[in-house]
Amino acid sequence: MNTHICRSAKVLFILLSVLTTFSSNVDAQEFFKKHPAINPYQYEVVKVKAFEHAAVTSAHPLASMVGAAIMQEGGNAFDAAIATQFALAVVFPGAGNIGGGGFTLARKQNGELIGIDYREAAPSKGSRDMYLDEKGNPIPGKSTNGASASGIPGSVAGMFSTHAYAKLPMSKLIEPAIELAKYGFVISEKEARGLNGTRSAFVKNSASLCAFTQKQNWKGGDTLFQPDLAATLLRIQQNGLAGFYEGTTADLIVKEMSFSGGYISKEDLKKYTPKFRKPIEFDYKGHHVISFSPPSSGGILIAQMMKMIEPFKVEKMGLNTIESVMLMVEAQRRAYADRAEHMGDPDFWKVPTSTLISDSYIKARMSDYQPGVAGSSKTTIAGQAKESEETTHFSVIDQQGNMVAVTTTLNDTYGNKTIVGGAGFLLNNEMDDFSIKPGVPNMYGALGGEANAIQPGKRMLSSMTPTLVTLNNKPYISIGTPGGTTIPNQVYEGLVNIIDFKMSLKDAIDASRFHHQWIPDAINVESDFPTNIIEALKLKGYNVSKRGAFGRMDGIQILPNGQRQAAGDKRGDDSVAGF
Ligand code: GLY
Repeated sequence: MNTHICRSAKVLFILLSVLTTFSSNVDAQEFFKKHPAINPYQYEVVKVKAFEHAAVTSAHPLASMVGAAIMQEGGNAFDAAIATQFALAVVFPGAGNIGGGGFTLARKQNGELIGIDYREAAPSKGSRDMYLDEKGNPIPGKSTNGASASGIPGSVAGMFSTHAYAKLPMSKLIEPAIELAKYGFVISEKEARGLNGTRSAFVKNSASLCAFTQKQNWKGGDTLFQPDLAATLLRIQQNGLAGFYEGTTADLIVKEMSFSGGYISKEDLKKYTPKFRKPIEFDYKGHHVISFSPPSSGGILIAQMMKMIEPFKVEKMGLNTIESVMLMVEAQRRAYADRAEHMGDPDFWKVPTSTLISDSYIKARMSDYQPGVAGSSKTTIAGQAKESEETTHFSVIDQQGNMVAVTTTLNDTYGNKTIVGGAGFLLNNEMDDFSIKPGVPNMYGALGGEANAIQPGKRMLSSMTPTLVTLNNKPYISIGTPGGTTIPNQVYEGLVNIIDFKMSLKDAIDASRFHHQWIPDAINVESDFPTNIIEALKLKGYNVSKRGAFGRMDGIQILPNGQRQAAGDKRGDDSVAGF
């Protein structure tokens, strides 16, 4: 163990396992043989560290180390992002994925912005009322569990679109994931708990048993082998996009559909294509913020909320005080009301983006705000604008200053709990992110209307908010988080912590969070939120309840000396790597 780093108060090591079978497999492992410092059977969580050249921060130490090693081999931030994403699909099965979808937001060293949307899409057999019974009521579980809940997966196509900006061959970027799946890796306590807790759902929703169900009682330190997933990744490595969207993998996906009433056809898979989206951009107190546009609601929401609070002296109010929380919550209420009314897939619904983030609209939205007075979601409704929880985020900044922020998801933890038989990967339950019936909340309690109704080929509204910040037109921050509808609020609070409260990246990420999403008209706070502020908010008339930790925010910030300071959230096994 590196005793120097161990002494640092800011670095937390968690020894995850003992050395097991690594030596017997090492010869067969092209990537891991070349990078002996990365040991899938014994690794540590590094929560914060500054690197001279390049850094990755993700939900899993092995995925971060893989991304960093790819950059050491000559790859750029895009190469690292692709390798990290495929590795996460193996080592972080609850949210890392090839059966889900997501968004890649990037700013190239030359300032060019790239937004790649590989959000899942509704199957061609999808329809507005597909999750309702004959009386028009939602059928419990149909949009959340089993193959019926799955949208057409976009992640693999997204990685191939991202590859247009990378330097190394795709086959090399998939290799570490194949080796991790084939030769196994040691799982953490948290993962063991997740697999044990979801076991009965896996068995119920999947046609066949698989790697996750081979043991009754997983423990931290066990090695997870995923031979079916390794074979699927190998097909992608050998056949490119067709290795997933056609041939054996497509056949296996469609076969799995028939087990639990799924809708995805071979034609749906073959037709799936990522889309390039123009990022949302806005300025906040001397910083330029770049985030994702619809079908994500995230970019619009953080633009609205930050612009709503910009005229106020937030920095004087302080972190999690009654003044700052009330102001920030009232901005959340207004922005999330607009989300429910105005946001959806822009290819199917005219989202009034420029109006929603315009100065005049923002000013009008806050015109009825009264400092110190609790608002109400009965009277605050969407403005007139004419024109899960398990997701995962990772950030990369390379030597050249290319910044990448990627958020991908299966929606709920372990998605729809359906493992594609013989292909070894989980499918998403993203169809629940559509408004399955106007006025009926989804699993995040979020309401939606026509803008987000189901139509064949349409992409469901997302909250994923991969975000970049520049300062004086230079790369500065790459950040994001999972957490369903809490995501935009987390990113908003994280950025305010850094920009207004001048907190370090790590402290900003770990700070206690609060969340208001218009409906329900309530503030959720994390369990370590200051009790006196909870009581003060209640006295003002707010409905406040504690809930478990939300999100696992990961970010990288470029320090004035050029170092890449990477930080992983205290809330998970999130870990940083770099050189
Ligand atoms: N499934 C979470 C999101 O896309 O917002």
